Amino acid sequence: MSESKNRRSARRSTADAPPAPTSPRSSKKAKTNGSSTSSRNLSFVLEKPGAVTFEDRPVPTLKSPHDVIVNVQYTGICGSDVHYWVHGRIGNFVVENPMVLGHESAGVVTEVGENVKSLKVGDRVAMEPGVPCRRCVRCREGKYNLCFDMQFAATPPFDGTLARYYSLPEDFCYKLPEGMSLEEGALIEPTAVAVHICKQAGIKPGDKVVVFGAGPVGLLCCAVAKAFGATKIVTVDINEERLQFALKYAASSAFRSQKESAEDSAKRLIKDCDLGVGADVIIDASGAEPCIQTSIHALRTGGTYVQGGMGKPDIEFPIVAMCVKELNLKGSFRYGSGDYALAVDLVGSGRLSVKELITGQVKFEDAEKAFEDVKAGKGIKILIEGPKE
Ligand SMILES: NC(=O)c1ccc[n+]([C@@H]2O[C@H](COP(=O)([O-])OP(=O)(O)OC[C@H]3O[C@@H](n4cnc5c(N)ncnc54)[C@H](O)[C@@H]3O)[C@@H](O)[C@H]2O)c1
Ligand SMILES: [Zn+2]
Ligand SMILES: [Zn+2]
Repeated sequence: MSESKNRRSARRSTADAPPAPTSPRSSKKAKTNGSSTSSRNLSFVLEKPGAVTFEDRPVPTLKSPHDVIVNVQYTGICGSDVHYWVHGRIGNFVVENPMVLGHESAGVVTEVGENVKSLKVGDRVAMEPGVPCRRCVRCREGKYNLCFDMQFAATPPFDGTLARYYSLPEDFCYKLPEGMSLEEGALIEPTAVAVHICKQAGIKPGDKVVVFGAGPVGLLCCAVAKAFGATKIVTVDINEERLQFALKYAASSAFRSQKESAEDSAKRLIKDCDLGVGADVIIDASGAEPCIQTSIHALRTGGTYVQGGMGKPDIEFPIVAMCVKELNLKGSFRYGSGDYALAVDLVGSGRLSVKELITGQVKFEDAEKAFEDVKAGKGIKILIEGPKE
C-alpha cells in the first residue's frame, strides 16, 4: 500500500465525526448484498512527468463504517490531470510518488459500510472527489472546500479515481436520478465547479453575464448562469469553433478576443454585445491575463467579478478601475456545501444538459491516448471507461 493510501486511511478513521471503528477492517460487517467486488484493481498511474503506466493496485477496503466502495464506470479528463501528466506538479503540489490520475467520476456502489444509510449495493452515483477533515475552522463554518486538510483525488499525495475501485464516505456519493446516465454522472464534477462559481457570483434572474473562456468550465458556467436566470450570457474566447459551440449550447451572444488594449477590448465587448452600462457579472474561466483585465473594464459600477480560471500566478491588474467602480471581486475554488447536489439536480431535472459536452469516449486501456487528445485541445470532454477486468 502506498504511503499516500496509508495516510488517507489513518486520517480518515479519525476525521469522520462518529467514533472510529476499532478494527482496521469494518468491512467484516459490511453489507455486501451480493457485492461484485473483484480482487483486481487496475489503475492508471502517473509514475513521473510524461510517464504513465497501468498497475494492479490493492482493492480499497472500507476504512470507516460510513464508507462505500464504488466501481468506477466513467471518468472525465480535466486540465489539471493533463498538467500533472506533463509537468508533474501544479504550484506547490508536486507528484513525488506514483499517483493514480483522475477525479471526475461516476460509478456503481459495490460495498457499503455497516452504518451506511443512504446507499445500497448497485446504486449509481456521482463521486465527489475531495474529502475534507470536517473538523477545522473552515469545515465547521460550512466552507469545506477551503479545508486545511483536504484529501483530493489526484492531487498529490492522494490517488485519483482512474481505477476499478475507489472508496468514499457515503455523503460524498450522490445517487443519480433515474434517467440520468453514468456518463452524465461523470460530468457532475465540472458542473459543480460551475455551480460554485455562479453561486460566488450571486447570479440573479435578469443579470447580464459575461464568461471568459469556452472550455468545459466556461461552457458549464454559461449553462448554470442560464439556469440561475441570467437573461444575457456572453461567451468569450479566441477559438471560433468553441464560440460556435457555446452559442449552440447555452450562450446568447459570442465575442472573440483580439490583440488590443484591455480598455479597447472592453469597449468593443460592451458595444458589440449590447451590454449598456456594462455587465452585472463577469466570470473568468480562461485564466488568461488579457481576459482578467478586460473583465474589470467591462463590468458596470458595483458589478461582480469571479476568478475561476487558474493561469499565471501573478498578473498586472487594473486596480484603480476596480476601486472607483466599487467592484466585488471573488475567488472560486472547487465546490462546497450543496454544490454537487445542486449539479445533480440541475442535470437530473433537465434544466441543464451535459450530454453535448461529451465529445469522445475511450476504453481504459486507451487512457493515455485520451490524455494526448485533451492536451492537443481536441473536443470538449473525453471520458475514459472504467476497467472491465
Ligand atoms: N476554480 C476552480 O476550482 C477550477 C476548477 C477546474 C478548472 N479550473 C480552471 O478553469 C479554467 C478553465 O478550465 P477548462 O477545463 O474549461 O480549460 P480549457 O483550457 O479547456 O478552457 C480555457 C479556454 O480559455 C480560452 N482562452 C485562452 N486564452 C484566452 C484569451 N486571451 N481570450 C479568450 N479566451 C481565451 C481557451 O481558448 C479555452 O477555450 C482553467 O484555468 C482551469 O485551471 C478552475
Ligand atoms: Zn477537474
Ligand atoms: Zn477541514
